[in-house]
Amino acid sequence: MTTIATAMIIGASSQLSKELARQLAAQNVKLLLFVQEPDALTEFANSLSVPTAVFPLTITDPTKLNEQISQVWQSENGAHLVIVNTGLNSYDASLPWQLEEDIIEVNVRGFAAICNCVFKLMTEQRYGQLAAINSIAGQRGGPSVAYHASKAFAENYFQGLSMHAQRLKLPITISDIQLGLLDKAAMQQNRFLLPPLEKVAKQILTALKQGKRRAYVTKRWRVVAWLNRMLPEYIYNTRHWKTKKKKD
Ligand SMILES: NC(=O)c1ccc[n+]([C@@H]2O[C@H](COP(=O)([O-])OP(=O)(O)OC[C@H]3O[C@@H](n4cnc5c(N)ncnc54)[C@H](OP(=O)(O)O)[C@@H]3O)[C@@H](O)[C@H]2O)c1
Repeated sequence: MTTIATAMIIGASSQLSKELARQLAAQNVKLLLFVQEPDALTEFANSLSVPTAVFPLTITDPTKLNEQISQVWQSENGAHLVIVNTGLNSYDASLPWQLEEDIIEVNVRGFAAICNCVFKLMTEQRYGQLAAINSIAGQRGGPSVAYHASKAFAENYFQGLSMHAQRLKLPITISDIQLGLLDKAAMQQNRFLLPPLEKVAKQILTALKQGKRRAYVTKRWRVVAWLNRMLPEYIYNTRHWKTKKKKD
């Protein structure tokens, strides 16, 4: 099949990544998928109707990660679109350091290493679109302390890359996809918390096609994000709410 473009999905094993891959394949886009364990994705890759290759990603080792992405970039003659969909999130009220460290390693150091590498490759190529599936969780601190902070880092990092692209006067689009918090439920097939995954992926790809700098997915999360930012601290930070006295 003749393909019209090449897309890399970095962190390609999640349900959302797979749906993005399916929809890109339906648009005749050649796919280069990066995952921790390539063998686990071979069957999925073979099921797609476009040329699809799977490559290893060692997010915990920035030097190795740089080599992995750069080698594929050279051998496959670059890419038009790179979607970064790596992420780690978990909640433990006792805030164990190991968990915080793991989240920072994947969502901050790993994320920056991937985006730094891809941005430089796109600079050499002199065009491209770099997108990240980010989260509205980054707009304010929250109970998953390191996770919320890591998403703020990602948002800020993308702002900087976008500024760099402008200064270099290169057509490199930096797209920050702000995913709503509850969309996880849709991924877990929870019928009560729509929208379905297909809609989430479709809205992401539409926003990318439009070259959006930032998009909220699904769209209703723009309002939630706005409210989230506007709420005064004493309301936002529910720990300050007075608990009702128990009746005897
Ligand atoms: N799902 C939601 O409701 C939601 C809401 C808002 C924002 N987001 C954000 O959207 C992005 C994608 O979320 P998702 O739910 O599709 O997927 P996810 O289950 O959070 O995982 C995304 C990807 O990260 C990769 N990953 C995690 N740790 C890794 C590591 N140490 N090395 C390499 N890869 C690693 C996973 O690959 P492996 O399977 O190979 O480990 C997976 O493909 C994340 O950044 C997430 O924070 C999600």
